[in-house]
Amino acid sequence: MTSIRVSVDLGDRSYPVIVGHGVRTQLPDLIPKTARRAVVVTQRNIDFQVDVGIPTVTVFIGDGEQFKTLSVVEEVSRNFAEAQLTRHDVVIGVGGGMITDVAGFAASTWHRGTPVVHVPTSLVGMIDAAIGGKTGVNLPQGKNLVGAFWQPVGVLCDLDALSTLPKRELRGGLGELAKYQLLVGEDLSALPQTEQVARCVEIKAKIVSADERDQGSRAVLNYGHTLAHAIEIATEFAVSHGEAVAIGMIFAAHLAAVLGRIDDQRVRAHYELIGKNYGLEVTLPRGSSPDELLKLMYMDKKFVGGLTFVLDGPNGVETVSDVSPTHVTEAFRRMEVPFKP
Ligand SMILES: NC(=O)c1ccc[n+]([C@@H]2O[C@H](COP(=O)([O-])OP(=O)(O)OC[C@H]3O[C@@H](n4cnc5c(N)ncnc54)[C@H](O)[C@@H]3O)[C@@H](O)[C@H]2O)c1
Ligand SMILES: [Zn+2]
Repeated sequence: MTSIRVSVDLGDRSYPVIVGHGVRTQLPDLIPKTARRAVVVTQRNIDFQVDVGIPTVTVFIGDGEQFKTLSVVEEVSRNFAEAQLTRHDVVIGVGGGMITDVAGFAASTWHRGTPVVHVPTSLVGMIDAAIGGKTGVNLPQGKNLVGAFWQPVGVLCDLDALSTLPKRELRGGLGELAKYQLLVGEDLSALPQTEQVARCVEIKAKIVSADERDQGSRAVLNYGHTLAHAIEIATEFAVSHGEAVAIGMIFAAHLAAVLGRIDDQRVRAHYELIGKNYGLEVTLPRGSSPDELLKLMYMDKKFVGGLTFVLDGPNGVETVSDVSPTHVTEAFRRMEVPFKP
């Protein structure tokens, strides 16, 4: 069995991410030596069993973003109490990003912080959500508003899990994969899957090590995300996150070109990668209005006195503040013109 081990370097909180087929068998090696009990947090529709090697209780939570709430965290915590879990024990999140966000957040507050191991089972989970220690839940007022930075003690990306992942979820993950490609300017599409996932993990790990608490450089991970969040809200999540990120990056490319930061060839590269290579949507969802999307983007978390985007440019991808709405409108207009490869 060939697996790849990537390290997220954070001093004494550094941890390994192991990527490969069948790596779930390595779970007992990743849990803290002090652990006498484990609680696995997962969903019923995820058929991916893990053997922790110590007495384990499994807690199932609902499927869907509407279950990423504080009340579900309370429910999970009550299960921790019933299992008599202590902070010397371990929580295991087995699922997509929704699970690792909830399990991670519950672990971060259980006895003021209990170790968590993530076993992501979706592509988004493997290349993004399970890595980097952002955990949290939603409020009716917005996504991920309550949360904590809580790094896992280890992550197992077992590619066997992807065999049952619905096609559409896989495609959404390709949106985030394309993001990494555009961030570092490498072609990852031809790599074998283990290397592809491991490379994404490595890219994210490096960004997280340099700016764990999102004070600056980590913002590049939000490439394409300003418009993506607006699209998710405008379509009431009918367009998935990864699909929205794909459209968001096409928009970001046009906006960067409008601002003279990149040339047409670079815009073309975005279309080729996102539309042609990965078969993702490159136009605004039918029925969505640029005016409404603009309004929603003004409400973005990154908003500090002006429209803020993460944009490509001569120095690579970086945060650009105070973008004028006129330029945004022009970028939307350019998106409407069918792109001829
Ligand atoms: N913390 C972070 O840094 C971070 C980063 C990106 C995304 N996220 C969060 O992650 C969530 C999105 O993650 P996601 O796309 O994995 O969504 P998800 O966790 O909701 O999973 C999508 C669907 O796939 C199912 N599923 C997952 N793995 C499966 C498998 N192996 N077989 C069959 N079905 C499977 C799930 O049950 C669910 O129905 C969002 O809540 C987002 O906010 C967090
Ligand atoms: Zn994302």
